[in-house]
Amino acid sequence: MRKPFIAGNWKMNTNSATAVALAAGLAKELQGIETVDVAVCPPFVYLQSAAAALSASNIALGAQNVYFEGDGAFTGEISCAMLKDCCCTYVILGHSERRHVIGETDALINKKVKAAIDGGLLPILCVGELLEERDAGKTMDVVEAQVRGGLEGICNERIAAVTIAYEPVWAIGTGRTATKEQAQEVHQAIRALIEKLYSKDIAAAMRIQYGGSAKPSNTAELMAQPDVDGLLVGGASLKVEDFTQMIKTVA
Ligand code: 13P
Repeated sequence: MRKPFIAGNWKMNTNSATAVALAAGLAKELQGIETVDVAVCPPFVYLQSAAAALSASNIALGAQNVYFEGDGAFTGEISCAMLKDCCCTYVILGHSERRHVIGETDALINKKVKAAIDGGLLPILCVGELLEERDAGKTMDVVEAQVRGGLEGICNERIAAVTIAYEPVWAIGTGRTATKEQAQEVHQAIRALIEKLYSKDIAAAMRIQYGGSAKPSNTAELMAQPDVDGLLVGGASLKVEDFTQMIKTVA
């Protein structure tokens, strides 16, 4: 049985005061929640202060990106060891904003996924189609290429570290959530692909999150889908009340 996994992606939001207040508020409200894995992913610069605010909680910490090299002359980049040093457990990779705003490719994302696993981090690999790709009937082609590309060369022994997040780009920050049927259809197809690439057991154990305008009012119906194992939450994760409500709905 897959344990639900809800993660908050704070993106480029908060400041030193609000990041700590958000982390501390969640730590307080989510005390004693054992049936859901919860993580928050603040901006790099607030990881340490968020870690301190979360230290007595069950809430794990994640980062929103990492570089694949170990150390050296890579101005502006952050390594896996640095993230571990700041108490990170997870790292979001291949987010659509990094693919489409920053220009990250599947090849680069794959290097990061491998580095994260080797560095002892648990990657959340994001995949998802643009609206024009969905309208052209190419959703599964795009998602399959991103899953294959992101996981290229990762063997059966290492794949257990990975969570996949299906985030249709047209649903991110738009208020337009995928319907539960649309989410389930793609999640089921991703699981079938994982079975083909790995094994039935690995596919059955793999957690697949949905992301894209997930909020308190649609949490229950999304999470009721058999292949939706969690949520990657943007906007609603910035409000203690909303994120708490979503987790309590799932718990
Ligand atoms: P929203 O929940 O704000 O749509 O963002 C989703 C997302 O991109 C999470 O990574």
